[in-house]
Amino acid sequence: WGRNGHRATGEIAQKHLTRKTKKEIKKLLKGASLALVSTYADEIKSDEAYRAYGPWHYVNFPFGGTYNPSEANPKGDIMVAITSCVEVLKSSLTTSEEKAFHLKLLVHFIGDLHQPLHIGIAEDKGANDFQVRWFDEGTNLHSVWDTKMIESYNMSYSELAANDSSFSKEEISEIKSGTVLDWMYESRELCENIYATTNKGDKLGYNYMYDYVPVVRQQLEKGGIRLAALLNDIFD
Ligand code: ADE
Ligand code: ZN
Ligand code: ZN
Repeated sequence: WGRNGHRATGEIAQKHLTRKTKKEIKKLLKGASLALVSTYADEIKSDEAYRAYGPWHYVNFPFGGTYNPSEANPKGDIMVAITSCVEVLKSSLTTSEEKAFHLKLLVHFIGDLHQPLHIGIAEDKGANDFQVRWFDEGTNLHSVWDTKMIESYNMSYSELAANDSSFSKEEISEIKSGTVLDWMYESRELCENIYATTNKGDKLGYNYMYDYVPVVRQQLEKGGIRLAALLNDIFD
């Protein structure tokens, strides 16, 4: 996602944290909110020192296939990223600086896990090479999903987070259940559906928003709920 998507995920998660988790996170982040730190992983992207974290934002594997760690990118991927962050945060051997760094990354990567095109295919780099038109402008499908729909919908991250009550209590406990791998496959299914309904060169606009803004909002909310579940499990 772009900045607003990540911040919405962080803001929604904040509302699902237990008191104890909130307190522990506040200490680690020196008072900063999850929304504020959610974009940190993008801010360090251009820094040579953090090059190794580039492949951690996504995973690519063929449609109809499964995620196979032995065939995965040796430089890591979003599954490796999330597993590593959780491990550092659970460890009693890591410093609070290291924990703070990996907490900021975890907030970001749980967001990206819910952007369907981040569970993509290598051929077009998660639709970064899939050219489309967005209203009157040329762009790519990845960017439509990362930012264009959220921008055109014209909602700030706090508005996105404030209107997040689309799920019942029962649905929320269903959403929290399952593993990170299950959540990844849920995104993959959405990704396959997006490819089945979008063609190269398509002129996307209001009709596309009508079909897919609800999916974007649902994914942001699920990301927030699941991020909170992981954090509550780690800290409480
Ligand atoms: N670069 C290569 N594949 C990608 C993907 N699926 N998402 C984002 N960036 C990528
Ligand atoms: Zn992206
Ligand atoms: Zn990212």
